[in-house]
Amino acid sequence: MIESYAADRCLDFWKSLGAMSLDTDAKKVLLRKIPHGLFICGVRDGDDVNGFTASWVTQGSFEPPLVVMGVRADSSSHAIIEATKRFSLNVLRADQKNLAAVFFKPQKGLGGRFESAPFTEGELGLPLLDDAVGGVECELVGSLKHGDHTVFVGAVKSARLIADGEALNLASTGWNYGG
Ligand SMILES: Cc1cc2nc3c(=O)[nH]c(=O)nc-3n(C[C@H](O)[C@H](O)[C@H](O)COP(=O)(O)O)c2cc1C
Repeated sequence: MIESYAADRCLDFWKSLGAMSLDTDAKKVLLRKIPHGLFICGVRDGDDVNGFTASWVTQGSFEPPLVVMGVRADSSSHAIIEATKRFSLNVLRADQKNLAAVFFKPQKGLGGRFESAPFTEGELGLPLLDDAVGGVECELVGSLKHGDHTVFVGAVKSARLIADGEALNLASTGWNYGG
């Protein structure tokens, strides 16, 4: 009798989970409240370089210094990060919104976006923009492949500060990436 009561309650619990429905409008509004910076992620595979605008970036650990970045699974750069296990993150100045736009728009060929933004190779051989607040180079230490983006975790191995100043953030651009 007791067993059957417990089994019924258990069934009720699982039924209630099944009945849960996500309010997608609320989810979108709330997730878009997460504050984001705007960065140019750089990748290199041999002679091929590429870069794209990334906003899903945050720090993940002080020691070792880790950064976490969500990358579209179907992007060109995703495949390069998986193959080479490294990436750079360039911090844009607050007045570099136009450059951020160049780096999310379609390009003629891989790496073509860098025609608008000269770069120098860092110690890991990754593209670091010459004109930006600065940039870091990271070695991949982990990844979580689930859904339409992969969460990459990178250990910061080099850092080049060009000129400290206010960095570009997503809210100031009026753009959205998230929700
Ligand atoms: C405001 C904004 C923020 C973006 N943030 C990201 C991001 O965090 N991760 C990502 O993978 N793509 C992000 N994108 C999309 C990429 O910049 C875009 O898909 C790019 O074309 C990928 O380039 P690739 O295919 O050459 O690697 C963002 C786009 C916009 C407009």
